[in-house]
This record gives sequence, structure tokens and C-alpha cells, in this order.
Amino acid sequence: MESPSKSETTCGDLRIEEENDDDPPLLSSHALAALKEFLDEQAQTQPDVHLESGVSEDSEVALVTEDWRLSQFWYDRDTAETVTNEVLTLCQNFESPRVACIACPTLYTYLKKLGPHVSAQLLEYDERFSQHGSEFTFYDYNEPEELPMELKHDFQIVIADPPYLSKECLEKVTRSISFLAQNRESYLLLLTGEVQAKRAAELMGFHPCGFRPHHSSKLGNEFRLFTNYDPGPRLGGWEQ
Ligand SMILES: C[S@@+](CC[C@H](N)C(=O)[O-])C[C@H]1O[C@@H](n2cnc3c(N)ncnc32)[C@H](O)[C@@H]1O
Repeated sequence: MESPSKSETTCGDLRIEEENDDDPPLLSSHALAALKEFLDEQAQTQPDVHLESGVSEDSEVALVTEDWRLSQFWYDRDTAETVTNEVLTLCQNFESPRVACIACPTLYTYLKKLGPHVSAQLLEYDERFSQHGSEFTFYDYNEPEELPMELKHDFQIVIADPPYLSKECLEKVTRSISFLAQNRESYLLLLTGEVQAKRAAELMGFHPCGFRPHHSSKLGNEFRLFTNYDPGPRLGGWEQ
């Protein structure tokens, strides 16, 4: 049997690889768009069905439906668990660790599952995540410092996944990181496209790690995990 061929769709500035298979027949792009809109509406009106994030130990973490219009591409399970375990390791350095998750709701959700004792704040544009109550803060990267004053310099660990791969977006998100980070010794993790490597190094001294993040949807862009600290043998080490 022939393997399905692949094509790429552009969504924002991310490329999504799709599988084309002759059987069953594919929906037209209009039908797909209508279906997606319908599912999004359902997600907004039926929170009990689509918005659950707390799940039992042995099941996968359930996430809200991706909305590609918001550049939402969730990590696959291995990526989410690897980064979450790194954060939990870092948390051991502090008596009362506080973790800020900027535009990375999957990591926040896994963190709450694997380390429910950890105090974390999700900063997100998508208000569906307001289900997390006081741990949700509305965040628009266009207003990088329009954040509650009580969050200023409140976090020893900050993780960010900017929604776009532009210079402007990275610059603004790094301003938010600086706003949230407690001090120069704070642990910072940035997940973004490899194309941002030089800028990330210039802006905040980020270095790429050997570990490669992957998404549930197959993205054409190469993603990297950058840190401002040397992870030693973890995360595949710092790439020289
Ligand atoms: C590339 S995704 C990162 C998600 C991550 N891969 C995960 O699995 O958690 C970017 C995130 O930015 C959010 N976003 C979209 N528009 C935004 C905006 N204007 N300001 C801040 N965040 C935004 C999306 O809702 C999405 O969660």
C-alpha cells in the first residue's frame, strides 16, 4: 500500500504538513473551515466537554481544541513531559517556586498534572483558559508590560512560546519575560523556531539545547528549546 503523500499549509507564519490520502475522500477547504468554526464554537459553549484539563494519572492530558487562527499548535506528549520535568527539576532549587507560562498552555496543563504542588501562572490570549481562575492572566504580546503589578519580578522560572516567529514578537515577549522574572538568576526557557536563534541570543543570552520540541500537528518549521542557563546533561545539553 502506498504511503500517503504530504502537502504543506501555511497558517500564520508556521507551516503545517498535512497528509493527503485518496480514501476516504477529503473535505474541501471550505467544508473544513466550516467544520473548524463549528468545533471552535462548540469548544466555547461546551466547556465541560472540551475544556477539561485535569485528568487521571494514567491518561493523557486533555487539551482545548487548537485554534490555528491564534497560532495554536500544542506540543506532543513527549515534549510537554520533558519540558515539564525540567521545570520540576528547577523548582527543587527553591523553597516556594513560582513558574510563569507565557503563551504555552500545554506546559501549564502538564505542570499542574505532574507537579500539582507548584505555583504557576498562565499568561494567555485565549480566554478559554480563564477556566484556570486566578492562575490565568489575560496576555497580549502587543502590550508586553500591561500586566498586573503583583506579577512583576514574581517568578524564579519563566517559560515562553511566542505566537509568531517575527523579530517584533520576540522582542515584545522578551520584555514580558523581563517584567516577570525575579532577577538575573531566574531560569528562563524559550520555545520557538530555530530562525529566532540569533535574536534570542542577542536579546537575552539564550542558547539552544540539544532536545528538539515537537508538536501534535506536524509543523514544517524546526523548533528549538533555548535556555539562559546551562542545563548540564539534561535537555540534550547546551549546543555549542
Ligand atoms: C505557538 S502557540 C504556543 C503553544 C504551545 N506550543 C503549547 O503547546 O502550549 C502560541 C500561543 O500564543 C497564543 N497567542 C495567540 N495570539 C496571541 C497574542 N496576541 N498575544 C499573546 N499570545 C497569543 C496562542 O493562544 C497560543 O497559545
